[in-house]
Amino acid sequence: MTNLTSLISHLILKDSSKRMKILDLGSGLVNKKMEELLKKYRNSFNYTAVDMKTPYSIFSLETNDNIKSLEKVTTGDWITKINNSFRYFEDINVKAINETEFNEMFHLEFGKDAFEYCKENEFKEKYDIVIISNLLHFLDLKIAEELTSLCISMLNENGIIYICVFNSEQTSYKVRNPYSRLKFDSLKKGLQVIEEIYNAPLHHELLGKKISDYNSG
Ligand SMILES: C[S@@+](CC[C@H](N)C(=O)[O-])C[C@H]1O[C@@H](n2cnc3c(N)ncnc32)[C@H](O)[C@@H]1O
Repeated sequence: MTNLTSLISHLILKDSSKRMKILDLGSGLVNKKMEELLKKYRNSFNYTAVDMKTPYSIFSLETNDNIKSLEKVTTGDWITKINNSFRYFEDINVKAINETEFNEMFHLEFGKDAFEYCKENEFKEKYDIVIISNLLHFLDLKIAEELTSLCISMLNENGIIYICVFNSEQTSYKVRNPYSRLKFDSLKKGLQVIEEIYNAPLHHELLGKKISDYNSG
């Protein structure tokens, strides 16, 4: 689906005076779908990435061993310690951003469970876009449904959610909890569907908008 990125671009361009808030759950080393947007519109949004992996395990997947002490450093330090090897942020020229600016733009919540993050921030934060890409099939269905529901309630008015899960027809890829069409439908409570794609070779994808007055409770 190319629509997520074009929709985000559209929303950014529509109201450039506002900084969009984006939450990416199970982001890994920052969602690949976000890469172009991060480069292009770096002053137009705040991006919160949440992943249960520790910073060290995230970065060590892609980098060499000069980052052994990463778990102990703050996001600001990441700029200086890793900017030779941090692919995405290097691309958007992290060197040109000072620590305050970096911390305002990027909230990197690594070593954190997605559900816990949402529970803690349920009444504190609202987002314009929530991305749950290739995460839900690692969770039990009940938790996945609760997490999705929580995320929908954390959307701003006109906020959008993007969900991508492995479909159950794809048997060669081992995931804990792949999604049949019926199971996928159970995630849609509280959502007005903008676009959905079933039966892609690997994934089901969904782009949706919160039905007004929806609350997860
Ligand atoms: C397949 S990767 C997806 C990366 C990226 N979102 C994408 O679509 O390319 C799944 C990520 O989810 C993270 N993850 C798994 N369970 C999680 C949980 N309960 N809370 C937060 N992150 C989790 C893993 O550490 C991993 O980085």
